Amino acid sequence: MDPAGKASVGTHAGSGPASIGRKRQEAIYIAGFAGRSQPVPVSPDRLEAAALRKLGRDAGAYFAGGAGLERTAAANRAAFDRCRIVQRAMRNVAARDLSLELFGRTLPLPILLGPIGVLEMAHREADLPAARAASAAGIPFVASSQASRPMEDIAAAIGNGPRWFQLYWSSRNELTASFVERAEKAGYEAIVVTVDTTLLGWRVRDLDRGYLPFLRGRGIANYTSDPVFAQLPMEGGALPKPPRPGPGALKSVLELLRSFPGGPARALSSGEALAAVRRFLAIYSRPDLTWEDLPFLRGRTRLPILLKGIVHPDDAVRAVEAGVDGVIVSNHGGRQVDGAVAALDALPGVVDAVAGRIPVLFDSGVRTGADIFKALSLGAQAVLIGRPYVYGLALAGERGVGDVIANLAAELDLTLGLAGRRSLGELDRTAVILDHGAIPAALDPHPAAP
Ligand code: GLV
Repeated sequence: MDPAGKASVGTHAGSGPASIGRKRQEAIYIAGFAGRSQPVPVSPDRLEAAALRKLGRDAGAYFAGGAGLERTAAANRAAFDRCRIVQRAMRNVAARDLSLELFGRTLPLPILLGPIGVLEMAHREADLPAARAASAAGIPFVASSQASRPMEDIAAAIGNGPRWFQLYWSSRNELTASFVERAEKAGYEAIVVTVDTTLLGWRVRDLDRGYLPFLRGRGIANYTSDPVFAQLPMEGGALPKPPRPGPGALKSVLELLRSFPGGPARALSSGEALAAVRRFLAIYSRPDLTWEDLPFLRGRTRLPILLKGIVHPDDAVRAVEAGVDGVIVSNHGGRQVDGAVAALDALPGVVDAVAGRIPVLFDSGVRTGADIFKALSLGAQAVLIGRPYVYGLALAGERGVGDVIANLAAELDLTLGLAGRRSLGELDRTAVILDHGAIPAALDPHPAAP
């Protein structure tokens, strides 16, 4: 055990009495006994509150915010509240195993770090500490198209660990092809196409602050480092002429110049920074994307392709028929459509429609190990974590992300055992009930007479 309570997730997750759940509890309690407090709160609410106190207001709004009145983000959580675990007793759960097989890799945990853009707003080193923490835990880091560091730098930080690349399908197919080619070369093992963000959602917190990080050159490192991007013709009209500068204008310009790869001097003298932003805004999204475009991608990569942002069973069937290798049930953490179906509510329908033909992963609203247990019981093979790891990154860099992963893994391990299960393969829908107010017949002590 590490007396400092530093995160460690062994590859023999859950095996025997020294299970990862117990090890993590002991590490935290012993650190507390030694008078050392945890820099990263275990409680998800306190974790968010502590990170938001530390993050700047623009960053806090960007990471924490959702679309509109944020009803989708609330629905994601409410769906987890309605899903309840049904424990089974006295089944010898001393040895537990959290590992799984996914696309030819054995992973120690059913957890991935989901794609999050603009991590430079959370930490000076941006994506790199998070990528290192994922690698140390042996879990995939899903690098975002909107990363703050080029995908090659992130791959180098990951070393031999698993890595996937998230693709925003640009309106210029040659750029999409270039991203995929670079990802393959850098050792990424799967391409995750986000299909729910062909337009940016109506994000009220960001709109009220008038803050779009990309406009300040943030989160576009994959673009400014791309040879095809640099050659794209300038498409006019994407950036309306700004009104007469207000008091905050200097800050915006400085941010833009500072975030440019060649440094402020080059950015200022060449005008390249503004040109890159204009070019990015013109091509980053692809609202006319359809199923007919998928063969273009299929023809350009041998890597597994997953679609992220599937909630309708018919879309899941379409994905299987289109030959994709996996789907991720997600509503983008409630950042795209306000008042959308909760991702967890959509999960069973997608799982049934896919019927085991390809893996179904889950994203949106996961905050605890018990949440992971629920999503897996409803048929997800693994889950993606978003905001919690960003908060860990903001508070304590690589160690902070490691702590978040370790806490999730520990609670999942303990919940698995306490629910009477020893491995992920033992999870199915009998492990949970969906509590819509009525007691399910199987648990009802006073069933109504037939
Ligand atoms: C981009 O993916 C975002 O959600 O901001």
